[in-house]
Amino acid sequence: MTSLPRGLHGFGLRTSHYDELLGSSSIDATCAEIISENVVGRGGRPLALIEHVRSQMPVFLHGVSLSIGGMDPLAVDHLRAIRELADQIDCPLVSDHLCFGTHGGHFGHDLWPLPYTEEALDHVAARVRQAQDILGRRLLIENVSSYISYRASTMTEWDFLAALCERADCLLLFDVNNVVVSAFNHGFSEDDYLAGIPAHRVAQLHLAGHSDQGTHLFDDHSSPVPERVWNLYRKTVQKMGDVPAIIEWDGNVPELERLVDESRRARREEQAALAEAP
Ligand SMILES: [Fe+2]
Repeated sequence: MTSLPRGLHGFGLRTSHYDELLGSSSIDATCAEIISENVVGRGGRPLALIEHVRSQMPVFLHGVSLSIGGMDPLAVDHLRAIRELADQIDCPLVSDHLCFGTHGGHFGHDLWPLPYTEEALDHVAARVRQAQDILGRRLLIENVSSYISYRASTMTEWDFLAALCERADCLLLFDVNNVVVSAFNHGFSEDDYLAGIPAHRVAQLHLAGHSDQGTHLFDDHSSPVPERVWNLYRKTVQKMGDVPAIIEWDGNVPELERLVDESRRARREEQAALAEAP
């Protein structure tokens, strides 16, 4: 197995920045991420952008449509296309979410959480192994933010993720903001969640903003990373080390320089947290 990247900080590539990025010969970041569905099988400008950015830094592929927890058959052709692209751009990290988003062939355009049961664990682990066989590499599974839970669940989300890693031999994309959002919405402890995640399985982090809706937090990726998320990020770094971190910003997308600023802050926060670590 090739070694996992460390000590990298960057942001998700968004269409409103493509022209500026294509015109820049020195992007001030050390990694970037693109939504797989925005580039796989498309060629053209998204592929030109990836080729341009990856000449300066690694580009991670982040999927939103795999529906790894769903009941529909896995999208084998889509996974083969991701593998082809990942090989072409020498992509070190390929991820998607712990959720379902399709049913009966219909796309829900959402990331719905799963019941955390032994039955669901068996189902998802088998599909992750199948996906990894097609991808020819380990898949990073990301924790989603959620607004509902199931009475049928018999384990916590973090115990489910830890068990999934063992059964499927997969990796994790630990979304710090999603933990903050779900912890508030469901009333569990961020610290308990962090303590339950196996550090050696975490290969990438996400940082993003959310909005406070009073009764719940909403994971809208439309604002700067809040202090509460930075706080959990510092604890995450102290547990997991210098795992690559990506800033996600999808609504009210700011100027590119603002995204670069956020990824610079991630580097500063990481260095400060490591210096303070026991
Ligand atoms: Fe995320």
